[in-house]
Amino acid sequence: MVQTYSPKEVQSLDPLALCDALERGEIVHFPRSPVPFPSPNDLEFLKIEMPRHLRRKNISYHPEVDRVVGVGGGAPVRDRVGAILKAHNADVRGFLERAIEPLARTWTVATSSFRPLQERGRALSAHASNERVHVDAGAYGATHGNRILRFFMNAHSSEDRVWISKGTFPEVYRRYGRAAGLAPGDGGPRSLAEGWANRSYSRLLEAAARMGVPMARLADTSPYDRLMRRFHNFMKDSPGFQETSEGHRRFAFPPGSAWMVFTDMVTHACVSGQHAFIDTFIIPLSNCRQAALTPYAVLQGVPP
Ligand SMILES: [Fe+2]
Repeated sequence: MVQTYSPKEVQSLDPLALCDALERGEIVHFPRSPVPFPSPNDLEFLKIEMPRHLRRKNISYHPEVDRVVGVGGGAPVRDRVGAILKAHNADVRGFLERAIEPLARTWTVATSSFRPLQERGRALSAHASNERVHVDAGAYGATHGNRILRFFMNAHSSEDRVWISKGTFPEVYRRYGRAAGLAPGDGGPRSLAEGWANRSYSRLLEAAARMGVPMARLADTSPYDRLMRRFHNFMKDSPGFQETSEGHRRFAFPPGSAWMVFTDMVTHACVSGQHAFIDTFIIPLSNCRQAALTPYAVLQGVPP
């Protein structure tokens, strides 16, 4: 479930092999991040200042409107955070445009986020909690079947960032899809096609987001996204799923390392760790070469 690339191997990455690994549900791990971290001064600023200026669950830079969200502290603080995350996001993008070029074509660069708080024991609601295993759904509004790719960097000076997983989407759907109420009504394949009204609503929200309302996208929806959200909530609400040993894996990502994964594909929870960068990209479904493995195809296809 984890494919590791040493600094030497990073020099000669094969983009198609990397894309295939991600699509299969591998976590692609770089023990030494191939993307540079911000300068020591900037990192220190984020680590010291952000905990007290955090106004939402996360601090996120939205490149489409060149704005940072979730930070208090006035314009000087917001401007500096925005500048750091903007430069960091450009570095991540530059690396991924080479490393996974086939998936990156016509992607949407979503958000660049810094996580200033210790993940263990955050007092978040069940559905917002990162400590409960889940697949991502709705993190950047509706995706309509497009994929959620995330690139992580552990910026802590000494602490691992620890994840657990219960397996990939197709595996977990087979085991829990029926209990989650995801089985198609007539027991056969289902259509996830969007009607005219849904498409018009989505276009309207997309336009609002482009005009400077970054949160507008969060109001978007689609048949696919509603099913994904239902599965996401089922996973987080279900003690049986959270506690099962079936498919259970634990991963420790050391300081200075980076990893990327389709977070709509690989179930995950972050159970501890602090000071991470998380960059999110929405990958067109049509860029995926292994269509049958995508959550869209799985939800459309055979009943669980
Ligand atoms: Fe997540």
